[in-house]
Amino acid sequence: MTASRLREEAGDGWLAPVRWRPHVEAPSQLEIVLSARDDLLSNWREEDFRAVVTDFRILNRQMVLVNSPEGVKHVLSTHNDNYERKSPQMRRALEFLLGDGLFISDGDTWRLRRPLVAGIVGKNRVPGFGAAMAQAAREMADEWARRDPAQPLDLLNEMGVLTSEIISRTLFGTPLGRARAERVIRSFAEYQRRIDSFNLGYLFGFDEGLPVWKGLALRRATGRLQGVIDEVITDHLEGRGDHTIMLDMLEIRSQRAPDAPVGRDALRDEAATLFMAGHETTASTLAWAWYLLAKAPWAVERLHRELEEVCGAQPPSFEDTPRLAYCRAIVEETLRLYPPVAILGRQAREADVVEGVRVEPAAVVMVSTWLLHRSPDLWDAPDHFRPERFLGEERPPTYAYVPFAVGPRTCPGMTFGLVESVLCLATLAQRFTFALPPGVVVEPQCRLTLRPKHGVPMRVTPR
Ligand code: HEM
Repeated sequence: MTASRLREEAGDGWLAPVRWRPHVEAPSQLEIVLSARDDLLSNWREEDFRAVVTDFRILNRQMVLVNSPEGVKHVLSTHNDNYERKSPQMRRALEFLLGDGLFISDGDTWRLRRPLVAGIVGKNRVPGFGAAMAQAAREMADEWARRDPAQPLDLLNEMGVLTSEIISRTLFGTPLGRARAERVIRSFAEYQRRIDSFNLGYLFGFDEGLPVWKGLALRRATGRLQGVIDEVITDHLEGRGDHTIMLDMLEIRSQRAPDAPVGRDALRDEAATLFMAGHETTASTLAWAWYLLAKAPWAVERLHRELEEVCGAQPPSFEDTPRLAYCRAIVEETLRLYPPVAILGRQAREADVVEGVRVEPAAVVMVSTWLLHRSPDLWDAPDHFRPERFLGEERPPTYAYVPFAVGPRTCPGMTFGLVESVLCLATLAQRFTFALPPGVVVEPQCRLTLRPKHGVPMRVTPR
């Protein structure tokens, strides 16, 4: 993808941040297949952003794009039973790394384990994690304060270090440290680059998709990644961390449902899932937020005013988060414009009709948060960065804004991720200013997640 395929506009007090120029003509099947290997979102036309349900075929396969709030409600909520299964692309792309962890499981496995995972990371747990989140963000600020501000920092990398540290401390009771965090980040970036997230076999008619080709580079990246995660999980399971949340939940769960045991292997897959799902998404969100703020000085001004009013000279704490309304609005607007999970892909179990469109059994049914969140039928100035839309009483309609999905498979880490993003953003914004070096173009890329393709290099200067 060249920079000319991208568009970014800004004026006095407004910003339309970077996005792909829409295609004028419908791309050919070959174009879709070829470009989707690099990126899953760059091929849409202007009309695809409209709030409707449409279908098209690639080779032998029906693909249904659900882009209306009613359609989203149907697929993800009221008719979830028919669409509980993740798309074969997603399952095949992640099974190598996550086994049968919650993100890609379905049926009895999913039903049995969902309460276990929700119990570990759900809303009620978050107040207990707040202090560790704030502490990790403060430590990163202290580390930045000691470095030469003339050297740019890659904010995507830094946010990955911070959020993986937070997951490691809160869920596993073990500090991760920069070296291990960077090994995870580099290996997962390599994993995303190498993994086939399109699965031609499925398009040619294999309903379950085909196992992905695991070349040497992919196997090496996976090995490095699993090596670090395994160290952290093993320490936890053997009681070497400073708490045992996972094991406690397993114990409680076994007492409540003695006839449906969850063993240690299952717990290991869930722990790996939580480790990955719990840091990558938040890291991308924060990296995009820094990019947006660097382009929107008026938003930074308002954020600093709020920090001054709420926290004064003190570092932000978990208790401050309910009053950091503008900071939270920045996070929510970032999730609208750059939702890390930009395609929610499902596989239809049986034939169905969604908003008048007939769905074939085994079709892929997609909700793209990238399209839905930028639909001109649902949002004013959809391409503009306006945190204000998330302030005050009025919230966007439930099924028009779904960065955490919705329905039974909604993200169990939603409150965790939101509180963590607000605390990290507030802590670092209070102490530093952020500027993109001249000429840097931040480029989106969507493979498993939507992230800045070459990171977000920035000058980070103490305030
Ligand atoms: C800004 C941060 C986050 C975003 C945007 C996000 C988004 C999502 C989305 C959209 C899904 C559903 C995917 C689908 O239906 O295909 C999901 C599922 C999931 N997320 Fe998150 N997430 C975030 C943070 C977290 C955190 C912090 C954790 C854990 C600590 C977490 C754990 C999970 C798990 C385990 C699932 C699978 C749930 C299931 O299938 O039942 N996420 N997330």
